[in-house]
Amino acid sequence: MKYAVTTSHKPTNELAMKAQKIAVEYKVPYISRRKLVELKKEGKLDLDFYYVLDRNEQLYILYDNSKFFFHPSMAKLRLKNYREGQRDHLIENLGLTGEERILDATFGLGSEALLMSHFLKSGEVIGLEASVHVYRVVKHGLEHYPFQYPWMKEAASRITLLNQDMKHFLRDSADESFDIVYCDPMFEVPQYSSSSLNPLRPFAVYEPITLEDVQEMIRVARKKVVLKSRITDSFFEKLGEFIEFSYVDGSKSSGVIYGVIKK
Ligand SMILES: C[S@@+](CC[C@H](N)C(=O)[O-])C[C@H]1O[C@@H](n2cnc3c(N)ncnc32)[C@H](O)[C@@H]1O
Repeated sequence: MKYAVTTSHKPTNELAMKAQKIAVEYKVPYISRRKLVELKKEGKLDLDFYYVLDRNEQLYILYDNSKFFFHPSMAKLRLKNYREGQRDHLIENLGLTGEERILDATFGLGSEALLMSHFLKSGEVIGLEASVHVYRVVKHGLEHYPFQYPWMKEAASRITLLNQDMKHFLRDSADESFDIVYCDPMFEVPQYSSSSLNPLRPFAVYEPITLEDVQEMIRVARKKVVLKSRITDSFFEKLGEFIEFSYVDGSKSSGVIYGVIKK
């Protein structure tokens, strides 16, 4: 895909220099925002999308008429609901003591990683994201987002995000090197309505999770593997022929289910 880096409109010199540095790092052109607007007007902008560094130093991607950016709103909402007494199936199924080392094998926007990390006192979350574009935007967000609440900042500080494909990472990992492995791949049937993931979709990796991948997760986990799926997807049904889930649990209203494999 063809892309470039620019800034928001009327940048300071400092901001333009920071964006130029990012362009060098990504090995793509830097185009000033003014030039980009001109090229667009003339119909000469030959890019699939572009990264924007804005005056608040947030990094996002503009494509078609959409914006892909990091935001912790889902983590915020889920923690709020949980504190108000609503069930959160992920948190319940993880059963954290607070000292766990968790591998979040499919990081995405990191909403669930932030939520999990909040419940860790001394543990950590290692996140893997195979898509370089998702990784860059989210990594930048974790480091630069002006988190409103101290809990989010603290949770983000316990997360290490790597631009790696879990399929390779798992096979290179030692037996029982994480307490919990969590995996939330892209659903087979996407949930477009009210999904905070919509802007991420064009950049996500969709390669299916295989039986061998799950066997690797079981080998690498010390306590348990937690997998997420939708009730309408065939993911758990296909696995169920070969792998015994300890239990499958979830919400009928959202159709989101978690499969837990305890060791
Ligand atoms: C459904 S999203 C995860 C959402 C995440 N749980 C959250 O709370 O934001 C799945 C993410 O996993 C990534 N992914 C898919 N296959 C992967 C793989 N083999 N290794 C690492 N990341 C992968 C996708 O690019 C996508 O960003």
